[in-house]
Formats: sequence, structure tokens, C-alpha cells
Amino acid sequence: MKDKIQHLKDKKKEALQGGGTARIDSQHKKGKLTARERLQLLLDEGSFQEIGMLVKHRSTDFGMENETYAGDGVVTGYGTIGGRTVYVFSQDFTVFGGSLSETYAEKICKIMDLALQNGAPIIGLNDSGGARIQEGVVSLGGYADIFYRNTLASGVIPQISAIMGPSAGGAVYSPAITDFTVMVKNTSYMFVTGPNVVKTVTHESVTAEELGGAETHASKSGVTHFACENELDAVEHIKRLLSYMPQNCEDLVPCLDYQIKNEHREVLNSVIPDNASQPYDMRLVIEELADPDSFMEVHRDFAENIVVGFARLAGRSIGIVANQPASLAGVLDIDASVKGARFVRFCDCFNIPLLVLEDVPGFLPGTDQEWNGIITHGAKLLFAFSEATVPRITVITRKAYGGAYCVMNSKHIGADMNFAWPSAEIAVMGAKGAAEIIFKKQISSAEDPEKEWLKKEKEYSDKFANPYRAAERGFIDEVIEPAETREKLIFAFKMLENKAVKLPKKKHGNIPL
Ligand code: HXC
Repeated sequence: MKDKIQHLKDKKKEALQGGGTARIDSQHKKGKLTARERLQLLLDEGSFQEIGMLVKHRSTDFGMENETYAGDGVVTGYGTIGGRTVYVFSQDFTVFGGSLSETYAEKICKIMDLALQNGAPIIGLNDSGGARIQEGVVSLGGYADIFYRNTLASGVIPQISAIMGPSAGGAVYSPAITDFTVMVKNTSYMFVTGPNVVKTVTHESVTAEELGGAETHASKSGVTHFACENELDAVEHIKRLLSYMPQNCEDLVPCLDYQIKNEHREVLNSVIPDNASQPYDMRLVIEELADPDSFMEVHRDFAENIVVGFARLAGRSIGIVANQPASLAGVLDIDASVKGARFVRFCDCFNIPLLVLEDVPGFLPGTDQEWNGIITHGAKLLFAFSEATVPRITVITRKAYGGAYCVMNSKHIGADMNFAWPSAEIAVMGAKGAAEIIFKKQISSAEDPEKEWLKKEKEYSDKFANPYRAAERGFIDEVIEPAETREKLIFAFKMLENKAVKLPKKKHGNIPL
């Protein structure tokens, strides 16, 4: 037995070496950690339990039978984060560049199946040269097996992908299906085709970082939700994200202990500028409404005209979707609509109540927006809110104009509680534009058209640039003083905590993609 135990120990020791010290050193020289070091940072100390440590590939082409590594390039298993179970896989770049073989894919699939069966999040740490070239189609099949499971798990358990190195070709589609993607600045990149192919096909010269680095995907494409400073920062992002999420779609949203105290926030009474066309930062409103330091913004640098993220309100995890008047006046465009819709759907999948802060002048006009399908993309946000069954509350701080009024979680599409501040303007459009259209004849035939226009603008504004018409109809449940908003929200979310909605029976909806 003693010898057998020693034999086992030797085998495990070999597996812990991955592709060997030289390759580990090379990984470190690139400023990257190894697959195991990453797991150590991510999981609670001593909690990691490895599965499949001794798996080896079965390939015999190109002399591969003579080159095998225990574990075959991916470390898989489970552990805890903050005491809650998670399933993990961590790709090991020191073994065949972290490339995916048939057996490697089987290891990941086994972990995914366990996560799905047992209802806990799955986290993938990606660092891979893609399909293992020596294995051909079995490697491609392995990828497809993973994509299929990503899809089955979507909406059942939270799935998070961290990109810690290369993620290229079809391999990018697993992270793309997962709920959140975290990238590391300067050491990670994602693209369907790399700079060399781009050069050949389109004659564009572009670096890997420009084409698919963290900052590119965080600001231009929106493919990643977070561009992190380094790997440690990426790991911290994952841990924090998970703290707002339940373990699975049937679990309750996390809630910390909280005693209601003085929830009055006087400063909110002076947030809205006197001039209605002047911007202000909606993040200031969020900071006042949420529990201190609890707001975690998602997609911060993408479509900045809408702000989305997680926060806690009296200890309860909520999702916030807010128009941002400080960027493009908070207008809804294609990117903002898609960003908002994806976030709303995530929260709805996982029982996270939604708070909407609304100050929106409408949808962005122009050929660029129309030709690129603002109709279809804007409809995504409308659809996402309409089908969401979690508790949904809206606070209109200022403008709620036109179609955007309907879309931004209005009463009509199923919001539970709709509040408005006295500064709210709920109308088909701004008073100036409205007066120009409906009083066109009077203005053009007036002695002083400019003066007449101003008069008519004021007339329209007096009638509609307020929340009271909507409140008279019950479209607004209560007009509130800004300072009392936090307290109102705490009570309203508590009132809604057992909300149960039955939607018409269907296979699934057909969200306009
Ligand atoms: C087998 C691979 C590999 C791969 C890298 N290696 N990629 N082995 N299959 N796909 C091996 C290298 O041979 C090398 O082995 C080690 O990993 C490290 O690679 P280097 O090239 O030395 O590292 P680096 O300079 O950092 O470059 C990393 C890289 C490059 C940019 C990822 O290796 C690369 O371009 N690899 C090929 C990428 C690719 O085209 N993959 C297929 C994409 S298509 P040694 O023994 O020297 O350490 C795809 C389809 C997925 O993935 C389809 C899903 C539907």
C-alpha cells in the first residue's frame, strides 16, 4: 500500500506541473498566472476539489502518443466562493497552448453537467490557442459539445467567463453565450479571426490588442462587460458579481441583514438642474438610492447613455437600469437598447428585482440608427421589460418622452410601481418640437413667429411637462419628493417580494434578434 500511495503521489505531482517549469516560467514572463494559481485566487482557501486530474488525450496522430500530460491542459473541479459552491474550469496554456482536445472538452462538459444538475454557477477561466490542431474534427466537436451545454445552462445557472489570454476563432462563442465576460487589459484578446487573416482579407493593419483586446471589447463592441487591470482584479470582479446572484434560477436573491433607519436623502432634492436641457450624472442618484458602496456597474464603458448594474437596497440584491443624461442626453440608441435588454433578461432569469431610473428624451434619430435597425434593437428592450416577471419599479426623474416612455418599464408593460419626481415631464415629445408641429399654422402666420412659438411652447409645457396628467390616470402610482425615494423603494420592493406572475403558456418567446 505504501508503494501504491507513493505512486499516486508521484502521478499527482506530475499533474501539478502542467506543461513543465520552462513553460510555467514563460507564462509568468508574459505577466500571466498559471491555471492553478488563478483557481487559488478565485476559490476559498482549501476548498478546491479537482476532478479529472489524471485524464490524458487519446490522440495518436503526428507522434502525439509520445507527448501526454496528466490533466491534458485544463484543470476542472468545484470549490466555494464566500462559502457558496461553484464549478470551475481553468485552461492551462502551458500544455499545448491550452488548446482543446476531445478529452479536454469531455472534462469541461462533465463539470458543466454537474453544475447544471446541482444548480450552482459555473466559471470558466479561458487561456487557449483554440482547437487542438493535431486532433482535427474531434476538437471542433468538443467545442460544439460545450456550446450546447452553455445554451442548456443559460437561464438556469449563472455562467461567467474570464478571458485571461487568447480566445480566438470559434472558441469565443462559449464566453459569448455565458452571462458575463471579464477580460484583462493587455494580456487577453478575443476575435473570430486574428490580425493576420484580417490583413489578408480586408487589408487592414491592426494589432491583436486593437482588434480584440479588453478595452476594445469593453468600449467598442460590448463583447466584454469588464476590462480589468490585471488577473487579480479580474478574479475580484468575478467574486463580487457572484455576490449579487442566486445559485440558480429557483434560488432566492441574496439578501444581507438590514435595519431600516433614516432613509431620507436630502441631497436628491437638488440633483435635477433648473434648466431641463442641462445634463446631470445619474450615477449620483444611484449612489444615493443604493446601500453605500453597493453599486457594481456592468458594461461601464459601452453605450454610456444607459447605466446598468447591480446594487443592494436595504441588503437586497437588485438590478438597476438607468438612462444617463450626462451622455447623449440619455437618448436610447441601438447599443443602449441591446445593453439594457441583455441586463434586464439576466436579472429576470435569476429573480433579481429591477429598478429603472428614467430620464430619456426618446430614441436617437438618424440614418445610421435607422439603417442599422434601431427598430429591431429598440424592440429588444421593450420585449425584455415586457416579459420580465421579477418585481419592477420605475422612478421618472425628468424626461419620459415618446416611445421611450412606453419602453422604459412603464405601467402599461407590466411595471409594478411607477413613481415620478415633481420634475418629471411625461409627454409625446419636448414642448418646443411639439409646439412647432401642432401650432405650425398659428406660428407661421403670426406677426412675430418666434414669439408665438415661445408662447405655444409654454402652453404645451404647462400642460404636459409635469407628472400630474399621468398620475391622474394612474400611470404613475405616486409623485414623490426625490429625498424620500430610497424609503419608498425599500417599502415597495418589500411589498413585492412574493410577486408571482403567470405568463401565457408557450415554448419560448421570439425576442426580435
Ligand atoms: C495545438 C497549440 C495550439 C493549437 C498553440 N499551441 N496553439 N497546439 N493546437 N491550437 C502550442 C504551440 O505549438 C506551443 O507548443 C504552445 O502551444 C505555445 O504556443 P506559442 O505559439 O509558442 O505561444 P504564443 O507565442 O504565446 O502564441 C499563442 C497563440 C499561437 C497566439 C495562441 O500559439 C497560435 O496562434 N496558435 C494557433 C491558434 C489557432 O489558429 N487555433 C485554431 C483556431 S480555430 P510548444 O510545444 O512550443 O510549447 C479554432 C476553432 C474552434 O479554435 C472552433 C470551435 C467551433
